[in-house]
Amino acid sequence: MPEQLLNSKNGKIHTPAFPVIPYIEGDGIGAEITRPTLELIDCAVRKAYNGQRKIQWFEVFAGDKAYRRTGEWLPAETVEAIEKHLVALKGPLKTPVGGGIRSLNVALRRQLDLYACVRPVRWFQGIEAPLKEPHLVDLVIFRENTEDVYCGIEFMRGAADTAKIEQFLMNEMHVYTLPFPGDSSYGIKPVSKTGSQRLIRAAMRYAIEHRRPSLTLVHKGNIMKFTEGAFRNWGFELIEKEFQKECYIEKRINQPPNCGKIYIRERIADAFFQDMLLNPTRHSVVATLNLNGDYISDMAAAMVGGVGIAPGGNINFEKGTAIFEATHGTAPDIAGQNKANPTSLVMSGKMLLQHIGWHRAATLIEQSVESLFRERTGTADLFAQTPGARIVGTTEFAERLRFAIENID
Ligand code: NAI
Repeated sequence: MPEQLLNSKNGKIHTPAFPVIPYIEGDGIGAEITRPTLELIDCAVRKAYNGQRKIQWFEVFAGDKAYRRTGEWLPAETVEAIEKHLVALKGPLKTPVGGGIRSLNVALRRQLDLYACVRPVRWFQGIEAPLKEPHLVDLVIFRENTEDVYCGIEFMRGAADTAKIEQFLMNEMHVYTLPFPGDSSYGIKPVSKTGSQRLIRAAMRYAIEHRRPSLTLVHKGNIMKFTEGAFRNWGFELIEKEFQKECYIEKRINQPPNCGKIYIRERIADAFFQDMLLNPTRHSVVATLNLNGDYISDMAAAMVGGVGIAPGGNINFEKGTAIFEATHGTAPDIAGQNKANPTSLVMSGKMLLQHIGWHRAATLIEQSVESLFRERTGTADLFAQTPGARIVGTTEFAERLRFAIENID
């Protein structure tokens, strides 16, 4: 079959009937969850479009598999292939702690400028969650993906460059508050107006398109005034300039009339964590910086049952480029044991289908997951503590999902 390319104009994707889409299998549990996920997506597409559409999957390499084949962890061809084909599905990739390679995930997001990490978090009936009322959680987190302390600008205690940084700070910038000069490491946290505003704009557009009731800017601007505080200020500036008609702002109106406009809030990050637990309905779409977004996403996923079920997409909304991936890591402790929960990647596949406009197939995937969880059938990470649950391995879970898709009316 000839190569059919997805393409995008101003972020709007045109999808041919038989698009070529690259995938990265991933390390650890990667192979165990990626292969069945591709099969499930194929199954949903077949069922939704009676064979009139089909994804032509195309494997590209990163992580262990790439290193074994090419001696590189992230070959340039992989990044180029995703850029060319626009959209990819990705299993988890390991990151060594300390020295060695820097995070491949971060490298991929930065090289492709996938500036928004979008993580929807919802509860599924049947799953026991730590919250009393987990059904109240329905959040979509927009995490800035290219800036903040993730830029990796760090200087190790004792290194020559570190001494230079310290001298510069003390002698030229007149910083007299270093607690332990000569004994410290340093990290730099770049946060730009462009980076902040494009993320907040994407979150606002999402909120408008999906008729979400509110958008919360989460920051730690009381302490980091010129980075996190600036993120907040640039956010309000953008919203007031570009979205005034569509929203109410909390600092001006306490009780907005219920007339379909989006209510804009801000929360300091620590207060936001408390609010997520105590008032989950207060927040719907969240826009935040990179590190806050990392913490918030895992906490939000835990509130509804764990990272094993929360999907994610890394998206450049102007170019349409996107990588959809599970939010968890390579789970080395259970790799190769048929215990991994594929739901996070499967639901990321659902997001991929939505991104390319194949909504009917996306809905079939979500319905199949809902139906299995409703019957309390799933992997041990979710159901080990649930009386009466049917605990199955990765393979059987995927087979049951496929059966469910085939039998949805
Ligand atoms: P992890 O998410 O791999 O594991 C944490 C815990 O959750 C483990 O007990 C694991 O068994 C469990 N778990 C994770 N996914 C699961 C699944 N699908 N089903 C059942 N249980 C699951 O986090 P960890 O151990 O901190 O990281 C391992 C490696 O993964 C590291 O090298 C890390 O850098 C990398 N990582 C990669 C990510 C990515 O590719 N996007 C994201 C997070 C971590």
